[in-house]
Amino acid sequence: MSPLDHLEAALAELDEAGRLRAPVSLPPDALVLCSNDYLGYAERPLETSAPAGSGASRLISGDHPHHRAAEQALAGWVGAEDALLFTSGYAANVGLMSSLAARGDLVISDALNHASIIDGCRLSRAEVAVVPHRDVDAIASKLAGSVHRRRWVVTESYFSMDGQSPDLRSLREVCDAHGAGLIVDEAHALGVFGRGGRGLCAEAGVRADVLVGTLGKSLGLQGAFVAGPAVLRRWLWNRARSFVFSTGPSPVISAAVPDRVTTLIEDEARRARLHDASDALRAGLRARGANVPTDNHGPVVPWILGGETEAVEMSRALLARGLFVQAIRPPTVPPGTARLRFTLNAALLDTASNETLDSQPQETSFIDAVLERIDAAELRPRSNEGAACSELAPTPPR
Ligand SMILES: Cc1ncc(COP(=O)(O)O)c(C=O)c1O
Repeated sequence: MSPLDHLEAALAELDEAGRLRAPVSLPPDALVLCSNDYLGYAERPLETSAPAGSGASRLISGDHPHHRAAEQALAGWVGAEDALLFTSGYAANVGLMSSLAARGDLVISDALNHASIIDGCRLSRAEVAVVPHRDVDAIASKLAGSVHRRRWVVTESYFSMDGQSPDLRSLREVCDAHGAGLIVDEAHALGVFGRGGRGLCAEAGVRADVLVGTLGKSLGLQGAFVAGPAVLRRWLWNRARSFVFSTGPSPVISAAVPDRVTTLIEDEARRARLHDASDALRAGLRARGANVPTDNHGPVVPWILGGETEAVEMSRALLARGLFVQAIRPPTVPPGTARLRFTLNAALLDTASNETLDSQPQETSFIDAVLERIDAAELRPRSNEGAACSELAPTPPR
């Protein structure tokens, strides 16, 4: 009898519900259509003589000049006064939310915000109001009724499982009208949207009080940053527990950041190609009757199916045709909205990578070839009427 015996039964229950996760071993020629490496930078090796590790928290002895250079490059890119690196986006949001908001404050959080935002809100001990997805009126009414010491509105600018965006200008107006701080997680928007990949706040001309970005998505590295005024950086340095009590980021990665930012800013052609291909994929899936959420844009193209088992079966059928599109299930998405979340990677659109589809005639475009494989997989959704996530009421926190 071991104290861990109950885990087998709990895992069997997850399996029964179609929610069990396990690593997938992919055939070497599989096309991965579900990563967040939107620009295809992740496979580029790093040439650096920077030390591998920081050796300690940055507050102890782990602070390194490469960290600071990375922060300055990132702050300059997004137009913020300063930035602080974290070892992941999860650590950034947990550290930020739990140190910025406090008991006596109100945090208004979109129902589809990422788990790291949710966990940070919980740790803050502030009152948390979860509002329906992208519902500015609901936010305004929560703010109007608030007698809290401080008010915060937190949202993603590009929801990573839905490929939808909030109306950032309206959010800014509502926050200004009620003296609330606007916190925007641009994890999936930086590098993808806006001139120089500066994200959706920049594209909309909206100033976020606090902006969160990650290095593990379009920058193809690992880690994250929180950008804002210099005083915020000093506060997080002192109070964000996921920063204070954690070894500093690898200088190898930090050393790569300034060049990656420069490359990414200049890569407008690659960004444009990514958007064109995503539009073609979205249109192709919709033409096949796929339930793609309204207002879906950019490189995240989810096909909402509803049932977990159905999503897993369809993912397997695609893999048999050489396409890897992971099934996304609760708790990552609300119950009843399991899905295939397609994402494109600009490197796949390069001629060299297209050779992986060499059974297709030369002139067939990459997306046409992908759609042909989807047709060949003969996917059979049981119902295409699964609730689009944007139509869901607030869900219990993930
Ligand atoms: C909106 C958002 N924020 C934060 C994170 C966490 O980032 P990381 O993978 O660097 O921990 C994610 C992860 O996908 C995300 O989607």
